[in-house]
Amino acid sequence: MSCCYSKCYSKEFWLLNFLVKLYLFFIQLTKCSRYKKEPPLDNGVVPWLGHALEFGRDAARFLTRMKDKHGDIFTVRVAGRYVTVLLDPCSYDAVIEDPLSLDFTRYAQILMDKIFSLRLPHSNPAAEKSMMIQHFNGKSLSSLSNTMYRHLQSLLFQQTQRACHNQTDWNTDRLFSFCYSLLFRAGYLSLFGGEQNNNRTDPTDVYEEYRKFDNLLTKMARSTLKREEKRTAQSVRRRLWELLAPAGLGEDSGSSPWLRRYRHLLQEEGVDEETQRRALLLQLWATQGNVGPAAFWLLGFLLTNPEAMRAVRKEFSSISEQGLAQCPLLDRLQHTPVFDSALEETLRLSAAPFITREVVQGKTLQMADGQEYQLRRGDRLCLFPFISPQMDPEVHQEPQNFKYDRFLNQDGSVKKDFFKRGRRLKYYTMPWGAGTNGCVGKHFAISSIRQFVYLVLSHLELELCDPDPQMPKVNANRYGFGVLQPEGDLTIRYKPRHSH
Ligand code: HEM
Repeated sequence: MSCCYSKCYSKEFWLLNFLVKLYLFFIQLTKCSRYKKEPPLDNGVVPWLGHALEFGRDAARFLTRMKDKHGDIFTVRVAGRYVTVLLDPCSYDAVIEDPLSLDFTRYAQILMDKIFSLRLPHSNPAAEKSMMIQHFNGKSLSSLSNTMYRHLQSLLFQQTQRACHNQTDWNTDRLFSFCYSLLFRAGYLSLFGGEQNNNRTDPTDVYEEYRKFDNLLTKMARSTLKREEKRTAQSVRRRLWELLAPAGLGEDSGSSPWLRRYRHLLQEEGVDEETQRRALLLQLWATQGNVGPAAFWLLGFLLTNPEAMRAVRKEFSSISEQGLAQCPLLDRLQHTPVFDSALEETLRLSAAPFITREVVQGKTLQMADGQEYQLRRGDRLCLFPFISPQMDPEVHQEPQNFKYDRFLNQDGSVKKDFFKRGRRLKYYTMPWGAGTNGCVGKHFAISSIRQFVYLVLSHLELELCDPDPQMPKVNANRYGFGVLQPEGDLTIRYKPRHSH
């Protein structure tokens, strides 16, 4: 018996020994296969997967841990890929200004396929982008902003009429869905059209389906959907494709000139009807996915910081009081340094995109401190400005705290002087990305959030229900995917302002 036991034992021991050796050999192999002058490599303990799980659970925490261990640049193994992470804002230009070696499109196409089930092999991203730049700037932007304001005003009016029956009753709501739903529906009506024309899609239906889609988005990107979630994702996507089908088709679709031209461009490229609808969902995400959540954080910070709220209200009141004689309201609403600083501060705390590029040809990355690192073709490069500069205590004092006037000088002008290691920073906050692939919709997004906050504060009495309110924590799964979303919410109550 004991002999049999020891035989079994030695067999198991041998197997275990073999596996451990195989594993060590694997680790050694992956380590050795990196060259000198490459950033420090951290494979993690799990073969192939590497750090994928920790990365996906809370990227900010994981990357801060890696930064403490390796410094401002390192390479991690993530689900079979090598991802080099650069966290020194003084060196970001070396990445942003080299779109030839560090390509934006390839990784974007992988995400498009995973999230939107969309492949556009014959598309012309440069043409699409220049068309978008044209429609979201200059005169087109002012016309679009006018349309957005009208929709925001009428949706807010309808919502308060419906919710506050006799105009003196308070209506209770959740701040996140209050902000997201209003901005999404107004943005949808302004860009995609709807309701009052031939395109009969109700924006509320689109919003509700979109939120289901949004909740699964990070899992779709990471290919970690469970079987049931996969089914839900497919059916929600299908429903959204149906709802978006009429958008951009013809003058009477009620869609913006941009969307009509975009759809026309797809048709010229020979993209079939089904794929066009998928592309529309991608555009819906790009144009609506960040604005509502950003407005939530901003209103949340204002409601929990009375001094900041007073300062923003004062600025808005003085704009309202200037009267029409000087210039139209929407033109006056463009000069709001206090609001702009509060929004910049909000985005510093809540915008956490990965700026990811694919290394398409070997590159020597020159760091600001003179060090050089080899980047290998086929690897990915990722900037995560949320850790630095945005939450870097060397750049921003008490970075965890909301200070509405952080981006204002004493004389009320815009503050642009921020330093790290004695060096004045070009990138002291980076919610919009930068360079060739920076955000095309930045001005439209800022204008929409400003209009929304202006309308809410001037037309509603709005307060938090909790006498001792705390801002909710962030949903840590969403680091890397643009503006963060809360884990939990703030309960608000509101009624029309004229009612008291
Ligand atoms: C608070 C709102 C928004 C934030 C924080 C935001 C943020 C960003 C960031 C960080 C990028 C760069 C991604 C990269 O470099 O990898 C980006 C790109 C982009 N954004 Fe936004 N965005 C917002 C709203 C909008 C809106 C309203 C639109 C459309 C009107 C828009 C359209 C785009 C487009 C088309 C790109 C891709 C640019 C390219 O292809 O090079 N964004 N955005």
